[in-house]
Amino acid sequence: MLAWEFVESAPLKGGGYMELMRRGKEMVIRVEGRELMGTHVHGSEDALADIACDYLRDDAPELNISMLIGGLGIGFTLAAALRRVGPASRVVVAELMEAVGRWNRGPLGEAAGHPLEDERALLVIDDVANLIRQPVEPYDTILLDVDNGPHGITQESNNWLYSPMGLKASFDALRPGGVLGVWSAADDRNFSRRLERAGFLVKVHQVRARGAKGGPKHTIWMARR
Ligand SMILES: C[S@@+](CC[C@H](N)C(=O)[O-])C[C@H]1O[C@@H](n2cnc3c(N)ncnc32)[C@H](O)[C@@H]1O
Repeated sequence: MLAWEFVESAPLKGGGYMELMRRGKEMVIRVEGRELMGTHVHGSEDALADIACDYLRDDAPELNISMLIGGLGIGFTLAAALRRVGPASRVVVAELMEAVGRWNRGPLGEAAGHPLEDERALLVIDDVANLIRQPVEPYDTILLDVDNGPHGITQESNNWLYSPMGLKASFDALRPGGVLGVWSAADDRNFSRRLERAGFLVKVHQVRARGAKGGPKHTIWMARR
């Protein structure tokens, strides 16, 4: 068994480090020693974009849509979105860490097929909360995969995103009929209730970590304005 090798690290704003590690062809991003995302398991990250597109295609069959993704990670959700959306779409990806953008243009890029090179994709190095608070235009969908669920682990201030105020801001940033998608490693009934209280129609999807190959169940909330 190969050992994990350290590749690079970057300081987090609230303290601590994000690290990029490699083991043979596999790479992972860790926060404070906890795996945030790896190159070899991405069925549920793909599903986050796929399920949102399934919801939206009733209103916009050609899927020429405006999408905001919170968290680039290794780019799997972005790549899945780009496989589905139409040629006139704009997919903005907000990523907190400049280093993650750089890693995606370097050693991590191949894992998801270099989605940042697609001209419909725009990487913005910023907190996704800022793009929710100040949308340039209403989004058709906002997809959040910035922590391991509706609790801030990358930075404490991410808790705002899952709070009544943050959910109200996402609601307001969506066009009527638009969809907020949230990825989580586990279900959380309190979060479903908070989404409903913010005015959303909520559906909880259980998806497998490795897609058709199975693996642990992850949770995706789809909350329609
Ligand atoms: C679990 S990974 C995302 C995985 C991604 N869905 C994929 O398919 O590879 C989480 C990413 O969100 C970023 N992030 C965390 N908090 C953020 C925030 N408030 N705004 C933007 N990006 C954030 C992290 O730096 C990390 O790159």
